[in-house]
Amino acid sequence: MSKMQRIEIAAHGGTDQMKLQERDISTLQAGQILVRHEAIGVNFIDTYHRTGLYPVPSLPSGLGGEAAGVVEAIGENVEHVKVGDRVAYCSGPIGSYATHNVIAADSAVLLPNSISSKQAAASLLKGLTVQYLIRQIYPVKAGETVLFHAAAGGVGTLAVQWLKHIGVEVIGTVGSDDKADLVRKLGCDHIINYRKDVVSEKVDQITDGAKLPVVFDGVGKDTFADSLKCLHRRGLMVSFGNASGPVDGVNLGILASHGSLFVTRPTLYDYIPTRPDLEQAANDFFAAISAGGIKIADPAEYALQDAARAHEDLQARLTTGSIILVP
Ligand SMILES: NC(=O)c1ccc[n+]([C@@H]2O[C@H](COP(=O)([O-])OP(=O)(O)OC[C@H]3O[C@@H](n4cnc5c(N)ncnc54)[C@H](OP(=O)(O)O)[C@@H]3O)[C@@H](O)[C@H]2O)c1
Repeated sequence: MSKMQRIEIAAHGGTDQMKLQERDISTLQAGQILVRHEAIGVNFIDTYHRTGLYPVPSLPSGLGGEAAGVVEAIGENVEHVKVGDRVAYCSGPIGSYATHNVIAADSAVLLPNSISSKQAAASLLKGLTVQYLIRQIYPVKAGETVLFHAAAGGVGTLAVQWLKHIGVEVIGTVGSDDKADLVRKLGCDHIINYRKDVVSEKVDQITDGAKLPVVFDGVGKDTFADSLKCLHRRGLMVSFGNASGPVDGVNLGILASHGSLFVTRPTLYDYIPTRPDLEQAANDFFAAISAGGIKIADPAEYALQDAARAHEDLQARLTTGSIILVP
C-alpha cells in the first residue's frame, strides 16, 4: 500500500498538536480520486478545526480542506476527470494538509492551463467564498457602496478586486498601515484602520450619513455590533467568519432598533451543494480572473511540515493575502 505524509492533530488545542505523520493511502471507492498535492490552501477555518471551535468527524484528525495537484488514480464511475489531470478542490474531506488526499471526484474542479496549482490552492476556497457573498447572497451592483472587513486578508484581497471589477465603491478595514497600502493598491476606495478608528463613524462620514446596504464581516466578535451601525434601514449583515472569535448571545431586538435589519451567517458549502453549483461558481470566478478583474498574487509559502507556523502567523494577523503549504 502506498504511503503519504500528513499533518494530524491527536486532540484539539494549540499548534503544538499539529504533527507530521506517515499514513497509508486508503483504497479508492467508486466516485473517488487520488490527488497528489502540488500546493495546499491554508484557510482560517482550519484553525477552527484545530481548536475545536468547529467539530471534526473524529480524532485523530487531519486538517485542511483545500489543495491543488495532479490526479494519480481514479475509482469506478468517475467520468469528468482522468489520471494526469490537474485539479483543485475545496470542500473536503478534512485532511488536505498532506502529500496526497482521496476525495470525491465531484468536488474536483479541472484547472485551466492559465492557473497554476499554487495559484489555485491560494484562491479556490477564498474565491468561491467571495463569489457566493457578492454574487449570490447579495448580488452587488455597480455604483453601490459596501463595507468589506479584513480587506487585506486572503478572502478580502480577492473581494476588493472583484468588487472593483464590478464597479462597486469599496470601504475596506485593515489592522495596520502596511495592510492599508496593500488594499489601496488593489483599488479599495476608502480604507479604515479599525485598530485606530470607529468604523461606523467613518462610514457615516464617507456616506454623508446615508450608511450602507450590506456589510461583509468575517472578523466576527470584535466587529459585529459596530457593523450593524454601518447599515441603513433594512440593510443586510453578512457575518461569515470568526477571526476574532464567534458572535454569540445576540439579542434579536438589536436588528429592530437599527432599522429592521437582516442578518445571515452563511457557509460556502450551502452555496455549492451540487456539482453544477460548484462548476457554475468556479466558472464565474475563473471568468473574473480571465477578464483581468482579479489577479492572484503570489501566496506566502510554507513547507508542509511548517503548517503550525502558518497557523500561528495567520492567527497573529501577520499575514496578507493567501497562504499555501508546499509538500
Ligand atoms: N463562511 C464561509 O463560507 C467562509 C469561507 C471562507 C472564509 N471564511 C472566513 O473569512 C474570514 C477570512 O478568512 P481568511 O482565510 O481569508 O483569513 P484572513 O482574512 O487572511 O485572516 C484573518 C484576518 O482577520 C483580521 N482579524 C481581525 N481581528 C482578528 C483577530 N482578533 N485575530 C485574527 N485575525 C483578526 C486580520 O486582518 P487585520 O490585521 O487587517 O485586521 C487577519 O489577517 C475568516 O473569518 C474565515 O473563517 C468564511
